[in-house]
Amino acid sequence: MDFKHISAMPREVMAYLDPKPGGTYVDGTLGGGGHSALIIDRIMPGGRFIGVDQDMDAILNARERFSAHGDDVTLVHDNFANLPAILAELNISGVDGIFVDIGLSQHQLEGSGRGFSFMKNEPLDMRMDARGDTTAEDLVNTLPEKELADTIYKYGEERFSRGIAKAIVKRRETAPITTTLELADIIRFAMPAKAVAKQKIHPATRSFQALRIAVNRELDRLERFMDDFCGLLNPGGRLCVLSFHSLEDRIVKQKMRLLASGCTCPKSIPICVCKNEPKVKLLTRKTIRPAEDEVAANPMARSTRLRACEKL
Ligand SMILES: C[S@@+](CC[C@H](N)C(=O)[O-])C[C@H]1O[C@@H](n2cnc3c(N)ncnc32)[C@H](O)[C@@H]1O
Repeated sequence: MDFKHISAMPREVMAYLDPKPGGTYVDGTLGGGGHSALIIDRIMPGGRFIGVDQDMDAILNARERFSAHGDDVTLVHDNFANLPAILAELNISGVDGIFVDIGLSQHQLEGSGRGFSFMKNEPLDMRMDARGDTTAEDLVNTLPEKELADTIYKYGEERFSRGIAKAIVKRRETAPITTTLELADIIRFAMPAKAVAKQKIHPATRSFQALRIAVNRELDRLERFMDDFCGLLNPGGRLCVLSFHSLEDRIVKQKMRLLASGCTCPKSIPICVCKNEPKVKLLTRKTIRPAEDEVAANPMARSTRLRACEKL
């Protein structure tokens, strides 16, 4: 397994998460284990680390990488949306910090063979968790045209979604669409040539992102996690989130702001009647972006955004 991975914004993550020696910390997205290694370095000896990933490849990699830490490191093959149940199962009632770095690992993109990239011809799978019940192939070959268009529009913010969905449905009437390059080609030829020529990104980028988000129900699971994280933190405990696109960042921003204001009254009411107290303090008012030197060394980090908050 090739787990070469450059972890995004390592300095900033460590500064905002600020792991304390002897503390209990969760990394909800182990990936190649780069950020986890930094956290473990800070909290050991005496700390407790729980690493979660829905991709078994990441768990196997971490098992090897962190084996020297014995029972101080627990690795769990699950979705971070299930963190309340994961911690309950481990009899952990509160943690000092949670980190999540949402999105794809370099291994998934380049070495998993699961069709996340349109740069190689692979089966259209796109499941991060091999136990998931729906693949990208299922979606492109079975979703009704309108639902397919809506998915590509909503999760890919692709303005040519209708034409793309129409072309996919037309092609699948002849034979099922089964590979990444086949799908990428259909998408490219469904878009106006002028628009394709103008774009800086590959014409299939947004549609592939949309399918991946739908296959893994990424936004629903992020929302569930953001609803629960505060109840899992000890007072003074921190959440630090790296996201990769605006759909994720919007969810993180809205949930953090809601908890920081406390008030859940509708906007139409001029004064607060709910009297709910703030539950967190925002550590980042705006998103933090990677420094220029990092983007120069690792162009993949360009879209990364960091937000963090601390439980009161
Ligand atoms: C960007 S990589 C993480 C990279 C990691 N921070 C590092 O330093 O190597 C994202 C990882 O999160 C996992 N992942 C994404 N969403 C998840 C979720 N909801 N639950 C669990 N794992 C998730 C993916 O399987 C992938 O391995």
